[in-house]
Amino acid sequence: MTDVLNWIQKRRSIRTYTDILLSADQVEALLHAAMAAPSASDRRPWAFVVVRSEERRKALTKTHQSSYMCANAAVVIAVLGDPGVSPHWVEDCSAATENLLLAVTGLDLGAVWVGIYPNADRENLVRQVLNIPEEIRVLCLVPVGQPAETKLPRTRYEASKVYYETYGNSK
Ligand SMILES: Cc1cc2nc3c(=O)[nH]c(=O)nc-3n(C[C@H](O)[C@H](O)[C@H](O)COP(=O)(O)O)c2cc1C
Repeated sequence: MTDVLNWIQKRRSIRTYTDILLSADQVEALLHAAMAAPSASDRRPWAFVVVRSEERRKALTKTHQSSYMCANAAVVIAVLGDPGVSPHWVEDCSAATENLLLAVTGLDLGAVWVGIYPNADRENLVRQVLNIPEEIRVLCLVPVGQPAETKLPRTRYEASKVYYETYGNSK
């Protein structure tokens, strides 16, 4: 239990990476974690595109200002959802993304959630670069690499955001 809590607090957004590559086994381990996420009615509406190509990773930096880290990551994992499979694709794919980020931490790698959904222009650009059909949604991109920065673990617990029994009751 303590281990789990430590890993959760250790997960931080890592945006700079060394040029060490990830093995296929490492990437597969991350995807195993992602697909172990809870899923409404167990529909698992997700799909993942693993992008190693430098040309594609660079093209993905054009989605918005805060996606620059795709260029120097070893790999970018695009998290996709199919609304035709489940109306809960956002929740399910978000749970998968958090699992993926925690697994990254557990493997001593670094990553960050790069938001794409719900911005239509960002989604369309990712669709274009990765050849994704129109009916498939793009939740986010997750650039992953060997960390070139360290961040301290933290919890951001705020007692003021917790109520007991009824909303507004702090005790
Ligand atoms: C839905 C979502 C979208 C995010 N989009 C971006 C993004 O586009 N670029 C980025 O650098 N970080 C992005 N982040 C990461 C947050 O900035 C980060 O989680 C937050 O600052 C807290 O820092 P921490 O992850 O180190 O705890 C996103 C996080 C979430 C949950």
